[in-house]
Amino acid sequence: MRVLLTGGAGYIGSHTALVLLEHGHEVLVLDDFSNSSIEAIRRVEQLASASIAVVRADLADLEAARTALEGERFDAVIHLAGLKAVGESTEQPTRYYRTNLVSTLNLLEMMRERAVTSLVFSSSATVYGTPQTRTLAEDHPVGQGITNPYGFTKAMNEQIIRDAQAAWPEFGAVLLRYFNPVGAHPSGRIGEDPSGIPNNLMPFISQVAVGRREKLMVFGSDYPTVDGTGVRDYIHVMDLAEGHVAALEHIAAGVAAYNLGTGRGSSVLEVVRAFEGATGIAVPYEIVAARAGDLAEAVADPRLANNELGWQASRSLDEACRDSWAWQSANPSGFDA
Ligand code: UFG
Repeated sequence: MRVLLTGGAGYIGSHTALVLLEHGHEVLVLDDFSNSSIEAIRRVEQLASASIAVVRADLADLEAARTALEGERFDAVIHLAGLKAVGESTEQPTRYYRTNLVSTLNLLEMMRERAVTSLVFSSSATVYGTPQTRTLAEDHPVGQGITNPYGFTKAMNEQIIRDAQAAWPEFGAVLLRYFNPVGAHPSGRIGEDPSGIPNNLMPFISQVAVGRREKLMVFGSDYPTVDGTGVRDYIHVMDLAEGHVAALEHIAAGVAAYNLGTGRGSSVLEVVRAFEGATGIAVPYEIVAARAGDLAEAVADPRLANNELGWQASRSLDEACRDSWAWQSANPSGFDA
């Protein structure tokens, strides 16, 4: 298949591009490079010994995206493009709604024009809002207790895709609800390269380890968890990338939602210890106040994806820490060194 990968130069996109190429697919990346680097694409090409077609356009600009894709053929779409910083979304809500919703609307219209019927959408466990059960399964209510505009854009995009499908019976979409992606390709050639101060735990830890930041701030220590710090389901980005390819290869008409997670929770301090154990580098930290909007715990029930997609997360948190460090230590300033 020739797959249009929107946001294909980003963290999830670059790893997904690599796995697509390894599975014999062709990749067409559409990216505006506002938070990503063409160097990521070049490195994926080197790792896969294959080439990637790239178009530079903002998917939220319909005419620009149409023009950029003129003359390009694709059989399916993996839609990852979007803004993703939770805190920033509370400061710039209209920008988040405009970018994340309009991009999906434009994409769906272009797919319909071209009669491209297969879509994999990058959703998030954030659509479950406040957990009502210990682990989160796909039939958990969606949309209640979401605490930020970013999270709402994911839930709204899911609804937009469902409504588009209802009006176009041949259309098939898979909504992938990611838990917490971490790690990097084991080569250390591609990885997560956040601009500015990292919002997420693993890139923050690896920047402390490499000396770019003094210490980790641990947000909150009195959650009702194993050690009082927040618990998440950390999934290796290579497992996540493989989940996209499994989803793509299982698309049928209709809409299906799947969790991509491991089913295992780890606390912030457990992640710190795993990182120290995997790399031999101390990660100084300080416990500070909880971050507004954070959950105590979010852990996937991944059985639906295991059973229906024939996919399972197989890499450990230790491997994710080792691979994050392989990336960070070889690229202390990211792609633009
Ligand atoms: N944490 C810290 N210090 C930091 C960063 C994070 O202690 O500097 C803690 C958080 O409080 C939380 C855990 O580490 O307990 C994980 O935090 P992340 O920011 O890495 O991830 P979140 O679970 O908060 O957010 C992720 C995605 C969002 C998504 C959300 C809910 O980044 O896109 O899961 O699904 F919306």
